[in-house]
Amino acid sequence: MATKNYLLVAAIDFGTTYSGYAFSSREDFQREPTKAYLKQWVDPVSSMMYNKTSTCILFDESVNFNKFGFEAEAKYQDLIMDNEHKTWYFFRRFKMTLYDKQSSGDGWLIEDETGKQLPALVVFSESIKYLKLSLLEEAKKQQTDIQADDIKWILTVPAIWSDPAKTFMRRAAVQAGIDTNSLTIALEPEAAALFVKHLSVDRQLHGKCRDLIRTFAPGSKYIVVDAGGGTIDITAHEVLTDGTVREIIKSNGGNWGGTSVDREYLDFIKCLLGESVTQSIEQNEPQVFFEVCREFETAKRQIKPQSDMKFNVRIPSQLGEAYANLNPGRDLKSKKFVFTKCKRNVSISIIGDKLRLAPKDAEDFFAETVNEITRHLENLLLQNSGKGIATIILVGGFAESPMLTQAVKSTFSEMRVIIPHEAAWSVLRGAVIFGHDPGLIKERRSKYTYGLAVFDIFDPKIHDEKYKYEEDGEIRCGYLFSKLISIDDPVTVGEYRKAETYMLTDIEDEGSIALFTSESSDPKYVDEKGCSFVGFILSAGHNFEVNEIFDVMMRFGETEVEIKAYQPKSNTISSYYLGQ
Ligand SMILES: Nc1ncnc2c1ncn2[C@@H]1O[C@H](COP(=O)(O)OP(=O)(O)OP(=O)(O)O)[C@@H](O)[C@H]1O
Ligand SMILES: [Mg+2]
Repeated sequence: MATKNYLLVAAIDFGTTYSGYAFSSREDFQREPTKAYLKQWVDPVSSMMYNKTSTCILFDESVNFNKFGFEAEAKYQDLIMDNEHKTWYFFRRFKMTLYDKQSSGDGWLIEDETGKQLPALVVFSESIKYLKLSLLEEAKKQQTDIQADDIKWILTVPAIWSDPAKTFMRRAAVQAGIDTNSLTIALEPEAAALFVKHLSVDRQLHGKCRDLIRTFAPGSKYIVVDAGGGTIDITAHEVLTDGTVREIIKSNGGNWGGTSVDREYLDFIKCLLGESVTQSIEQNEPQVFFEVCREFETAKRQIKPQSDMKFNVRIPSQLGEAYANLNPGRDLKSKKFVFTKCKRNVSISIIGDKLRLAPKDAEDFFAETVNEITRHLENLLLQNSGKGIATIILVGGFAESPMLTQAVKSTFSEMRVIIPHEAAWSVLRGAVIFGHDPGLIKERRSKYTYGLAVFDIFDPKIHDEKYKYEEDGEIRCGYLFSKLISIDDPVTVGEYRKAETYMLTDIEDEGSIALFTSESSDPKYVDEKGCSFVGFILSAGHNFEVNEIFDVMMRFGETEVEIKAYQPKSNTISSYYLGQ
């Protein structure tokens, strides 16, 4: 799928905190693979330029799209100042709602900054639509005759996401007007690995970067850590003799991205204010906490290990006002200590609109997050499959933080740690390369055990009474997990599994033949702990006839589960992604 001729690869990196896009023509890629056009976004508040914009979307009272990115943030600030924001819808950091989405279905709602709800599909698809339209506009400026059909679209998602989360992103992209057949989902750490690999080729020309060349030499093993705003997304590869790679540990990670440092800081501010002031702000003006985080987002970049400078961060004036309202006669500025949730007394001072902290106390906002990351990496490297990994490639915006990079370098002092110059944009640049040259990854590891829900003749020796039922004169056992592939199994990219024949009895509204995942290697029933329904193998809309057999081939080595179904009677063949 998505293999037709194209002239341009357009990649969208839809991040938890920052999103952006990049593109390059086939000719550009052949000339210089790492070169791509990245949109420059201007933050109207700081007038700074970035290669990604803030992942925020604003809708007006009638749920019409209004703005996306830094512009949405600035407009929302404006609405707050005029006290007109309460009827508008402002969403930010909503990508994390997909982080633990384990089962299919997209009719769910998400809450905006002030607790108002909209369908998630609207919020995601309008965001993608904005990025798509902006990209088309920029691409037209560069290449005037570019048509929609000439573009191959790449949308990046964390490798640790479940199948339903990926399916949801595809649906949102299709709703945003991207043709499903020209869209490929790329996995963020893999895209970053591709970028870094190509850097090694580019730099080789200049005789530099021995480390990069060693990292991608046949036989070597490396781990890629995409440290983003929401997730730490990890993959590990071994380089094969032909320079392609195979995954040696199934993708993994957790929700210890840069925003968990922000959460620590917000918790600290809430301790500073006390419970009743916090509650009052949460109920009456929750956007004040948005402002608190916004200020910290830039200020936290000053925090580095062993600094001898105090940490200064602006705090909104409403904090002091709310404090004084609920504590008559007392002033927030006169507070000298904060008793934190870890039961520590931290000394503070508030001068003007700035909160000042000792450097060590500012470092503490990072401590738990950074520990989680290094501990997780240590465990991975101790696994059998982690043996021989000599390099850690650290990318993502959070990899710009000296707090994280120094912790990784000192914990893994015997390893090579590569942090590319453009760590924050590596995924975006790599996604463009992936569009042009998707052949780097030869083999992946199955993230789950996959299987179908089936029934069998009930056998009291092996089946549980709970699943017994009678149909068509037979006593059956239902809900059985019929395994197709085990968790951690190597799966070759591009390869379909042997065809299986099924009888299509009916296609209800949603589909037929239910596919489940499991986190254990040998689940017996599809409703066991760790099992999730992820989609139907066959859904309506493929023109298959009911009560006829058809052959199904599936592949699990791609970035999404792919299905090819053939029905001899109707001579219909169809290829599609799970959930379509
Ligand atoms: N110098 C820095 N110090 C500390 N944190 C930083 C620094 N630079 C960026 N960050 C953090 O990195 C995160 C953004 O990284 P990135 O743009 O890779 O995330 P994302 O793509 O939006 O998220 P995800 O990939 O998890 O969906 C933010 O939390 C930001 O605060
Ligand atoms: Mg990212």
